[in-house]
Amino acid sequence: MSQTTAFVKYSADPYVIKLLEAVSPDLQAIEERIEQEISSSVRTIWSLGRHVLSSGGKRLRPALVCLSAYATGLPVDRNRLVSLAAVAELMHMATLIHDDVVDNTTTRRGRPTASALFGNGVTVLTGDYLLAKAMHLLAQDGDLAIIRTVSQIAIAMSEGEVLQMLYTGDPSISEKTYYDIIHKKTAVFIQGCCRTGALVADAPETLVDALSDYGYHIGLAFQIADDLLDYTGNPERLGKPVGSDLREGKFTLPIIIALREASPADRKRLLEIIRSPVKDGEIREVVDIISRYDGFGQTQAAAMRHAQKAVEALMRLPHSAIRESLVALCDYVVRRDV
Ligand code: IPE
Ligand code: IPE
Ligand code: MG
Ligand code: MG
Repeated sequence: MSQTTAFVKYSADPYVIKLLEAVSPDLQAIEERIEQEISSSVRTIWSLGRHVLSSGGKRLRPALVCLSAYATGLPVDRNRLVSLAAVAELMHMATLIHDDVVDNTTTRRGRPTASALFGNGVTVLTGDYLLAKAMHLLAQDGDLAIIRTVSQIAIAMSEGEVLQMLYTGDPSISEKTYYDIIHKKTAVFIQGCCRTGALVADAPETLVDALSDYGYHIGLAFQIADDLLDYTGNPERLGKPVGSDLREGKFTLPIIIALREASPADRKRLLEIIRSPVKDGEIREVVDIISRYDGFGQTQAAAMRHAQKAVEALMRLPHSAIRESLVALCDYVVRRDV
């Protein structure tokens, strides 16, 4: 399968393909840049990198770097843009493969995870390699404000993943802690992508801030929607099994809401199920309890609130077709099924 087809496979939502049309030549160039970056003389690194790259993915983060740069309406150095957007996807690749090691995940994007194929040791170290490659590209670019932004992403992401691990299996996790985790592991990343795009365009502070705020809120909306899809999504479309968060002891917003709103009897039953490793047959029961207390509806509403805030931040940008695409992406992240 060619890479382009693989990419389309897991972003086959015609709506998002249309939205990303404006940056599709950039995405193609980014793909080629990443290809170059992963071609290590150590063949295992190269094969693992290709496995991850060719498995598709929405390429949302590099697309946001590009769209944000163009949304400023200012001239953009395309070479720099492509490199910096490649940085974003390289970091994303690294975090996904690290995440699949710590989550013990065997399927992603409809394929075996890197760790399932190559083992945890090689996968962790190749993740480090991808991060180092990202740093190398950043150093070549040399823009200190961008280096600061991207290092902040790596710091927050590591903190978020560790924090999440510390709360694994802990049903007393609060909504505040949940938001702290998703702020660190996802929102800061997507915010940083939008900020980087604005910085490449050398945008004035007002535009940099508007795009950062947009990225932050769409990032939160994106992760909340991801946590919802983990319960309600179609595993074929998602390319990963549903109910994984629950099985992994990750208690996300739908369950936090249900634990708060449930009757004492339902709460007791919910706690009974989730305190020990959840079996397949019990996932249905958990889903029923969450539904009874509108846990999914409230989670969707939370995602929509952040998507709305993202749209509001965009209103501080000049009107353009690209701005409209960014607005439409807000709608996509909360309605997506992949
Ligand atoms: C997955 O990110 C991890 C989350 C932050 C939810 P994406 O959903 O962007 O992953 P791909 O790249 O499209 O597979
Ligand atoms: C993983 O987050 C990616 C990061 C944000 C570090 P999740 O564990 O929620 O994502 P999936 O469900 O594995 O894609
Ligand atoms: Mg995971
Ligand atoms: Mg998840």
